[in-house]
Amino acid sequence: MSEKYIYIKSYGCQMNVYDSDRMKDLFSDKGYKITKDISKANITILNTCHIREKAVEKVYSDIGRIKKIKNNKNNMKLVVAGCVAQAEGNEIKKRSPIVDFVVGPQSYHELPDMIDNLKKPLSSEFLQNEKFKNLIYNSSKQSSEFLSIQEGCDKFCSFCVVPYTRGPEFSRPIEDIINETKKYASSGIKEIILLGQNVNAYHGISKDGKSRNLSYLINKISEIEEIKRIRYMTSHPIDMEDTLINEHATNSKLMPFLHLPIQSGSDSILKKMNRKHTVEDYLKIVDKIRNVKPDIALSSDFIVGFPDESDKDFEYTMKFIEKVKFVIAYSFIYSPRPGTPAQHKDNIDNATKKARLSALQSLLTEQQINYNKSFLNKDMEVLFEKEGRHKNQYIGRTIYNQSTFITSEEKLINKILQVRITNSTNFALECQI
Ligand code: SAH
Ligand code: SF4
Ligand code: F3S
Repeated sequence: MSEKYIYIKSYGCQMNVYDSDRMKDLFSDKGYKITKDISKANITILNTCHIREKAVEKVYSDIGRIKKIKNNKNNMKLVVAGCVAQAEGNEIKKRSPIVDFVVGPQSYHELPDMIDNLKKPLSSEFLQNEKFKNLIYNSSKQSSEFLSIQEGCDKFCSFCVVPYTRGPEFSRPIEDIINETKKYASSGIKEIILLGQNVNAYHGISKDGKSRNLSYLINKISEIEEIKRIRYMTSHPIDMEDTLINEHATNSKLMPFLHLPIQSGSDSILKKMNRKHTVEDYLKIVDKIRNVKPDIALSSDFIVGFPDESDKDFEYTMKFIEKVKFVIAYSFIYSPRPGTPAQHKDNIDNATKKARLSALQSLLTEQQINYNKSFLNKDMEVLFEKEGRHKNQYIGRTIYNQSTFITSEEKLINKILQVRITNSTNFALECQI
């Protein structure tokens, strides 16, 4: 029998990367080989993102390109998975008849069966428990693995599609997560990045039937000898419990980095966004965590041009950033999303949105550069994760999540080393052993 190939492309967040890895595992189990050459593929899966309009446009333009390849190769099956599949369902097939299967983030475990038996997906239901029970977990990484522990969101920020695409908040049981971590650890993985749309809202059940929080889980994972580093993302300010903050002070395997999106530095915008907290609440968390872990590296997300955002509101955001100082942050122009409460208003003109984004990004970049520069000639611990683009180059991460590169004759992948920082480029650090 001839070889069967599968091509998977991920869009969007790390949870999609994790889901794509699981789809690869499911199809590898059925004898498929992974290919990076789409023209070889018997099955092509686009694991899509619905967060902003641009992300969705990208999917449709890729489908357009794939159409030509598929027309020359009549046995290729095209699958649209992920959050666009959940949000737009069968409209996708109407708009792009070359799509064969549409499957949402909670039912992709059925995909091999759907393709073999032309079974209909259950993509409109949120069967998280069912899904996680039916997945296969094989590590394809060399040092650091993502691990989804929580999925979905009950927060309903007025701009966001996630509660509709991923469903209600669901936490996997402690035992399942520990078993998956041990599996990765036994294949050599040293770092686990715990994922969830609201990872710090985690409340999984332990063996004794008790509900446990994220700090409990992190503590349990840190008992696994082979795991040297633990990270988690993304957190919501209202779920930033003291136990988790204290875990940063007491657990040496928990990396000193916190991604805590705020979206805006103006209380009136936060209110319209339905974020359920104020700027003051956020600053209190920052104080608390810096109190117990002074070197914690903070990162965030910002949206500019949200409906009714005035110059004053934007000024508050800039002042807020100057006050907190982030080591890195991500910023986006507001994109009205179908089905969300904020969708009908988009009253900030494009030029203003662009000017605000550019001012905000300059400030954030300046903070990032200054932060990175402060490590020049200092010694830091780095986990090397992969080969770089140049000969003998390796890429790793510091404990503060900075990207680091080195040139070395010796193979460094999956080594944790103490290095000296010799140069800092805008977004990365160069080092020597
Ligand atoms: N769960 C996380 C983030 C989810 S989405 C949280 O609670 O913050 C990742 C980021 O995309 C968000 O933090 C937000 O900054 C951005 N985003 C979400 N919806 C958006 C929209 N409609 N327009 C622009 N940016 C958006
Ligand atoms: Fe979206 Fe808000 Fe939920 Fe984050 S907390 S996923 S921004 S609704
Ligand atoms: Fe995008 Fe879905 Fe993640 S909308 S950001 S892929 S949860």
